[in-house]
Amino acid sequence: MTEIAKPIFDEDPFDPFDEGAIEIRVVDRDGVEHRLAALDGFRVMEVIRDWGLPIKAECGGACACGTCHVYVDPEWMDRIPPATDEEMDQLDQIFEVQENSRLACQILTAENLDGLRITLAPGSEVD
Ligand code: FES
Repeated sequence: MTEIAKPIFDEDPFDPFDEGAIEIRVVDRDGVEHRLAALDGFRVMEVIRDWGLPIKAECGGACACGTCHVYVDPEWMDRIPPATDEEMDQLDQIFEVQENSRLACQILTAENLDGLRITLAPGSEVD
């Protein structure tokens, strides 16, 4: 099931995707997929949080907690910049890491990531 995150005002007819927003697709911990509109150059973690989806992201994007752990759909792995040593070190410290694990705070939105699909990983839940 796919849900489109609602704008702040339900009656607002503005469709951000018609206006060139970048689409980030996020599968939450209940398996529901959300289409989130994003601007270029934002952390994917910020996009998720700002649309009100639950993501712990305890350190606020400092690559110091691992609670923004996501699984990137395999077809997107080659399109996002590789993880830095700092991100890899953080991934080494968390559970249930897979080959497609990334930290959402270390992925920046960009035009070439329009349609990026990720799944919130265990450990990203808000307490
Ligand atoms: S928010 Fe803490 S590592 Fe991403």
